[in-house]
Amino acid sequence: MKNTFFFILFISTIVALFAFAFSFSQSQDLDGKQIFIDSKCNNCHTVTSMEITSKKDDATDLSNASTIGDMPLMKSYLLKEAKINDQDHKVKFKGSEAELDALVNWLLTLKTEAEG
Ligand code: HEC
Repeated sequence: MKNTFFFILFISTIVALFAFAFSFSQSQDLDGKQIFIDSKCNNCHTVTSMEITSKKDDATDLSNASTIGDMPLMKSYLLKEAKINDQDHKVKFKGSEAELDALVNWLLTLKTEAEG
């Protein structure tokens, strides 16, 4: 009886550890800032407020990205399904839907203090 109890406790601990490690790695994968860098958005954009720099001299700074549009517009824009300022975006986002959500959620947090 005692052994059974410890065996079940042992298995539960292992399962819990795996669940924890898995959820941790998942949420790390879906860090919007990391997706921005992994997607090479910073080839053409800086986010100076986040210390993200670009090799391109005339890179557009996205430090105030939250003022550009709402979630649906930003998502469609990055999928080249909608235009901003009458223009398509240069590149189509190639990641998953979940990655796009995380990326846009992060962009929507970007706001420069000057614009208040
Ligand atoms: C090949 C260059 C290039 C890459 C790579 C690129 N962009 Fe852009 N992006 C542009 C250009 C050009 C514009 C529009 C003109 C401008 O505002 O400079 C633009 C505009 C934007 C805008 C709207 C800016 C505004 O003020 O209207 C957002 C938001 C944006 N890009 C996000 C991204 C994200 C997120 C990624 C990565 C998935 C990305 N871009 C990758 C070139 C690029």
